[in-house]
Amino acid sequence: MRIGVVNGPNLNLLGIREPEIYGRGTLADLEAYVKAYAGPADVEIRFSQWNSEGGVIDELHALRLWADGVIINPAAFTHYSYAVRDAILGISLPTVEVHLSDINKREPFRRISVTEDACIAQIMGLGFDSYIRAIDTLIAHCGGRPSSEKSSASELMQ
Ligand code: DQA
Repeated sequence: MRIGVVNGPNLNLLGIREPEIYGRGTLADLEAYVKAYAGPADVEIRFSQWNSEGGVIDELHALRLWADGVIINPAAFTHYSYAVRDAILGISLPTVEVHLSDINKREPFRRISVTEDACIAQIMGLGFDSYIRAIDTLIAHCGGRPSSEKSSASELMQ
C-alpha cells in the first residue's frame, strides 16, 4: 500500500516553532517516525512539505497517480483554503486530515476546518501519533489493498 503524507506551511519549522504547542521534534524526526511505523506494516510513504498552496495542490495531483491514500496536515490552509479542499475532492483518494495540536482547544479561527468533510477522518491532538493513527485508519479503510492493485497511470489517462 502507498500513502502520500502532505504537510502544509510552516511545518518545516517543527522543533523551533512554538515548541510548547508542536513539540521539539523536527520535520525530519516526524518523517523518520512515520516511516519506521509504515515499513513493517508494508506501507510505502511519500513524505513532503510545502509552504505554498500551489505546492500542496500540485503534490495532491501527483499523488492521484501514485498513492492508495493520503494523510494531509494542511496546517493553516485547513482553516480557509477552498482550493486545497477542492484538490482533496478532485483526486478521489481516501484522505485523512491530521493535526499535531488539538485545533478545537485553541483560537476560535482554528475550530473551522474547510477540508475536514473532504476527508474520511480527522485526527488531532496526538502530536506525531496523529499521523500513526491516520496510517491505521487508511489501512483499515483500504482493507490492506496492495499498491499493485492500483490502476496504472496509463489506464487512468484513457
Ligand atoms: C496545525 C494546526 C493549524 O491550526 C496550524 O496553522 C498549523 C499546524 C497542527 O498540526 O496542529 O500550522 O495543523
